[in-house]
Amino acid sequence: MLAKEIKKDIFWVGAIDWDLREFHGYRTPKGSSYNSYLVIDKKTVLIDTVKEYKFDEMLSRIKSIIDPSKIDYIVINHVEMDHSGSLPKILEIAKNAKIISNKFGIEELKKHFFSLSENSDIFIEIKTGDKINIGSKNLEFIQIPMVHWPDSMITFVPEYKILFPNDAFGQHIAHDGLFDYCIEKDILFHEAKSYYANIVLCYGNQVQKAFEYLAKLDFDTICASHGMIWTKKEFLDEILSKYKNWAENLTEKKAVIIFDSMWHSTEKIAYKIYEAFEQQNIFSVILDLKYNHVSDVMTELIDAEYICVGSPTLNNNMMPTVSGFLTYMKGL
Ligand code: FEO
Repeated sequence: MLAKEIKKDIFWVGAIDWDLREFHGYRTPKGSSYNSYLVIDKKTVLIDTVKEYKFDEMLSRIKSIIDPSKIDYIVINHVEMDHSGSLPKILEIAKNAKIISNKFGIEELKKHFFSLSENSDIFIEIKTGDKINIGSKNLEFIQIPMVHWPDSMITFVPEYKILFPNDAFGQHIAHDGLFDYCIEKDILFHEAKSYYANIVLCYGNQVQKAFEYLAKLDFDTICASHGMIWTKKEFLDEILSKYKNWAENLTEKKAVIIFDSMWHSTEKIAYKIYEAFEQQNIFSVILDLKYNHVSDVMTELIDAEYICVGSPTLNNNMMPTVSGFLTYMKGL
């Protein structure tokens, strides 16, 4: 398999997970990708890796450009296993590579991989504002804790105006086109919204803080760690604007009515509520939890001003579908 060039000497070397349909409780009907990037300069840098079972695909793409034993640095923007799962295997080949990460990333890597727990010399610890020169280019680092884990950070290459923000701005999409303009806009933005609703929603305050740093950076390309690369100006501006709105929990004049029903009585109440919103000219959506996955419900409700939830009584409690949904929603 081949690497794909994003800009001169910057390549996508990730893996596409065409069959992925579930991501820790989140339904992913369009699959996903784990985006790794290779930056070639006097030093060769691999930015993030892929899930462990996709290592061979990443390796094959790296080999189409360079001898992987020549990798000097591996940047770990985020330790979750979809991005660091292949780290031990690539280190077996890139024996002299140093790992660049922040304090939290290094702590987590040592806990995840026993082979790294006693090997402090392999790490280069950076913090927000630090830069590493790799030749004609620099790597700059901005920590964005809790977007998605405490370790999460952005790597920025100012000379090429490229952001590598890991999970932020991702979408679970498997697509060979790589760039945002290769896919229908509705699908791209629906999957970006679904991703925000199911992964990022509870970290809105931290997203707002990240925007304070992003406002200072001059970039025209966002290489997230899942899905399509944001490069079309119209789309890039729009996703930044949507993230700001979502992070501020801005809502629309919209109602989402969520329920399960045993003998259609709760369903009848749901439809009565719908009629009441209709009479007020408020756009409404009805979602029966028997037929709608909780992650799709979350996508629908993040911009709704009204959320109505109903359940019949079952065994002196609510229906498990409803309590399960409420647990999922509360977490997010
Ligand atoms: Fe894509 Fe938080 O991992």
